[in-house]
Amino acid sequence: MATLSPTLTIMIRAAEKAGRVLVRDFGEVEQLQVSRKGPGDFVTAADKRAEEIIFEELQKARPDYSFLMEEGGKVEGKDPDNAWIIDPIDGTHNFMHGIPHWCISIALESKGKILAGVIYDPAKDELFYAEKGMGAFLRGGKRLRASGRNDLESCVVATGYTGKDPAYRTAFVNALNDIIEDAPMIRRFGSAALDLAYIAAGRLDGYYEMLIKPWDVAAGILLVREAGGMVSSINDRSDPVYSGNIIAANTHIHGDLLKILQSAGKKAA
Ligand code: IPD
Ligand code: CA
Ligand code: CA
Repeated sequence: MATLSPTLTIMIRAAEKAGRVLVRDFGEVEQLQVSRKGPGDFVTAADKRAEEIIFEELQKARPDYSFLMEEGGKVEGKDPDNAWIIDPIDGTHNFMHGIPHWCISIALESKGKILAGVIYDPAKDELFYAEKGMGAFLRGGKRLRASGRNDLESCVVATGYTGKDPAYRTAFVNALNDIIEDAPMIRRFGSAALDLAYIAAGRLDGYYEMLIKPWDVAAGILLVREAGGMVSSINDRSDPVYSGNIIAANTHIHGDLLKILQSAGKKAA
């Protein structure tokens, strides 16, 4: 992609503006680690501030568009067909602990389809972006492609887990038990959006999570698909942006992972 489209230009500008502020905040977090209270309140404020910056930038550029944001919820614009889906910090716990693995995720959804996605990792200054039908790229125009590994044993598969519900915990552990039998190189990095960007970049081979929100995955789903990978929900292949669960992988192992996770689900039922 030689030149960026107006949509991507707007999204990247918003992500980079918020990213500059978050990098400064991330530096502060280190100082706060030693305090008894920890950096919790400071991070909550940083999260909200970043979302406001992104919101203002995008609204300035597209005044009628709607929003779905992790912190601010739904904001209905004059144009309900176009909505920005935003996670201002994906990987909050990493951010809070001074671990440089978190990102900003912005997607544009138009009439139920994700048309553009930007994932920006400010700590490493890596920017991933995609537009429907145009491919997925790293800043500077390097094309992203999903990996070609097809043997689960040599694949690196990421997952995620949050929540305290005992039933969910049991389901997660059972599924993990089945996954590691075939794919022992499991990872839990703590940012769903970066997990998806890394599949697009061919770094990770697969990723699944059983409880996930649209702002965690909307941009990443497009990145994976535009890089030639596959994404579905775990349960019924409904739209993984809204299904609340997801499996993304290169085309060779997506079916294998899906089979393992579906049979783990049946065993539990
Ligand atoms: C979380 C991260 C994590 C995933 C959780 C998400 P947050 O988002 O993406 O990797 O396992 O399901 O909620 O809270 O850091 O924005
Ligand atoms: Ca998130
Ligand atoms: Ca978040």
